[in-house]
Amino acid sequence: MSVTGKKVCFMTGASGKLGREIALSVAGQGYSIFFTWFSSEQKAQETLEQIRWVSPESQMVRCDVSKTADIKHAFSEFGRHFDRLDLLVASASNFFRTDLLEVTEQQWDSLVDTNLKGTFFTMQAAARMMLNQPFLSRIITMTDISAGLVWRNFAPYTVSKAGVQHLTRIFARETAPRILVNSIAPGTVSEYPGREAEPETDLLEKIPLQRLGDPMDIVGAIRFLMESEYITGQVINVDGGRILY
Ligand SMILES: NC(=O)c1ccc[n+]([C@@H]2O[C@H](COP(=O)([O-])OP(=O)(O)OC[C@H]3O[C@@H](n4cnc5c(N)ncnc54)[C@H](OP(=O)(O)O)[C@@H]3O)[C@@H](O)[C@H]2O)c1
Repeated sequence: MSVTGKKVCFMTGASGKLGREIALSVAGQGYSIFFTWFSSEQKAQETLEQIRWVSPESQMVRCDVSKTADIKHAFSEFGRHFDRLDLLVASASNFFRTDLLEVTEQQWDSLVDTNLKGTFFTMQAAARMMLNQPFLSRIITMTDISAGLVWRNFAPYTVSKAGVQHLTRIFARETAPRILVNSIAPGTVSEYPGREAEPETDLLEKIPLQRLGDPMDIVGAIRFLMESEYITGQVINVDGGRILY
């Protein structure tokens, strides 16, 4: 059962670099967190321990989002612990380089099934629950500015993220006015808060604000969407202006 009075967030991919910071921040906003991990059990366990400092009732479950049976199982486990869903953050994602002329079926399936199919069925399961609740809820998808750019050697990844941006608009329209559905599209984010990775000079030249993103930049945009009540179907690029090049 949920803890009375607390909002609840279901999040995929909270064992990720950025995902972890998002989960910690949402917990800090007073939410109970139920999150999924896939292959990084130790990172997930560490994240859960940190979340439980502020949100002791939080839970995690292993889930391969590319498998609908796993998503079904994750939501069933969610229902054993919580009886409301205020926020879905769909962050689980696969990312690797693929030479356009060498992409294999296995690589395509791995990227598209995780990023696009997985996000779709996670959103579908969340929306089914949210539409039965008598209060406003929110879905935030995590995409990438590359969804709107033509990057070399990332076709399945960028196509999957472009697909998620369109799903964001579709869900926003079809679930309005009960669910606000938006997407955050980060540019390149340095790995740890306060620690700027050593970016290549030519990358910095393409970022008008002249630095990589900090995870807190992304977290700030998530918090903004968690507060907003009149924004839906939008993609917010959090990229220091990188999309302008
Ligand atoms: N970090 C950046 O610079 C950046 C830039 C642009 C966009 N983004 C987007 O922002 C979001 C968060 O990024 P991040 O830095 O946290 O990514 P990340 O470090 O690569 O983490 C990816 C997450 O997705 C999970 N995942 C991967 N395959 C999965 C599967 N088949 N089923 C379930 N979960 C799976 C991973 O779980 P396990 O580790 O447990 O396997 C991990 O929690 C992602 O959607 C990413 O595309 C990030």
